[in-house]
Amino acid sequence: MPSLAVVGSQWGDEGKGKIVDYLAQEAHVVVRFQGGNNAGHSVMIGEELFKLHHLPSGILRKGKLAVIGNGVVIDPAVLIKEIDALESRGVSVANLRISDRAHVILPYHRLLDGAEERLRKGAKVGTTGRGIGPAYADKATRLGVRMGDLVDVDLLKAKLDFAVPLKQKYLEMCGDDSRLDGRAIMAEYSAHGRRLKPYVTDTGAVVRDALKRKRNILFEGAQGTMLDIDHGTYPYVTSSTTVASNAASGSGVPPSAVGEVFGVVKAYTTRVGEGPFPTELLDETGASIADKGGEFGTTTGRARRCGWLDLMVTKYAHALSGFTGIAMTKIDVLGGFDEVKVCTHYRLDKKKISGIPADLRVLARCEPVYKTLGGWEDLEGATLEKVLKKGFSALPGNMRAYVRFVEKEMGVPVTMLGLGRRRNELLDLRKRKWK
Ligand code: IMP
Ligand code: MG
Repeated sequence: MPSLAVVGSQWGDEGKGKIVDYLAQEAHVVVRFQGGNNAGHSVMIGEELFKLHHLPSGILRKGKLAVIGNGVVIDPAVLIKEIDALESRGVSVANLRISDRAHVILPYHRLLDGAEERLRKGAKVGTTGRGIGPAYADKATRLGVRMGDLVDVDLLKAKLDFAVPLKQKYLEMCGDDSRLDGRAIMAEYSAHGRRLKPYVTDTGAVVRDALKRKRNILFEGAQGTMLDIDHGTYPYVTSSTTVASNAASGSGVPPSAVGEVFGVVKAYTTRVGEGPFPTELLDETGASIADKGGEFGTTTGRARRCGWLDLMVTKYAHALSGFTGIAMTKIDVLGGFDEVKVCTHYRLDKKKISGIPADLRVLARCEPVYKTLGGWEDLEGATLEKVLKKGFSALPGNMRAYVRFVEKEMGVPVTMLGLGRRRNELLDLRKRKWK
């Protein structure tokens, strides 16, 4: 495997964790390059479910270096809890490295996330409430505290002495009457710093050094293209760059180091939080996909909105990230329908349009135009076993037709196919001839 980035091509929750967990077998280093604990990756190993928010999914594979890159924002208390939880289940985190340049999520970021959402009234973003936006905002306005500051008491104190009074004023302006206790924050966060210090380092140098030694790097994206701060459905987006180019910048390596890019495409579409969603199904079919797909957030437990696969979205994601392969996930969830639909384009005022409009009022008026394809039976028990053993050719004909249709429309091969929740319920199709 050359170095490879795995990114979400929809609104997040495409099932990237499972794909990364599988590919991590061939990697030496797994790097998270953006986002924070707004992300939630579920990986099922045997009957055990692991939920990760901060740690790269690669942490579950022995002997891999797991890196939290400079582009990530970190809530230290959450990270420490996650480390403790894994260790108590016998998973070692000795191979964890945390960037000294990654920014820290502080208590006032969480408070402000809530306060700003309340101010928005009818126009809420529907954030995860983890303080992600305010932490990235402070990074951009140069008020941020970095992991490297957290482990240096004097530096941390100087930064907090400056930031806390400002944040107190801003909280008041936002109508939040919480009192920030600078000393208590200092005590709590310097303790976090002491605890995390062994892991904090210049991870950019670590990854670049690994590249020099021809190690395989797996860049693990969080969220998805439509949540990208620049290219997504702004302002209903997250606060980081989720497309493949950030795999380089968020890890501290040159773009040329990112060899391949796998776009994770869930076989249908979901979104949590607010904002337009052209193929959303507000009927029985949508409810049945949600139910069967277990579409409830790993991080917030919120129900996800569900709809048919939208190729306008995934083609846009491909245009931005340049997929060399598609990892299609959760196709099993579409089993049992008489027919399934795929949106091939939008119509606006009776005209076919190309591309995703920046103006959300326009996007909200776009009508999806569907291609209807034949359904297939649920893959269960012995049939699933057979498919996992024999591969693509053993799949139901209509399921293969669905995969081929997506490949043809996108011009990219499906290189992985997710058939269930368990770790082994996945077909590796990288060697398959697809054209
Ligand atoms: P934030 O990232 O918490 O600021 O939330 C901004 C938007 O991104 C909201 O619509 C969230 O629901 C969405 N979001 C953030 N992280 C994820 C994720 O990991 N999966 C799906 N949606 C997410
Ligand atoms: Mg998720």
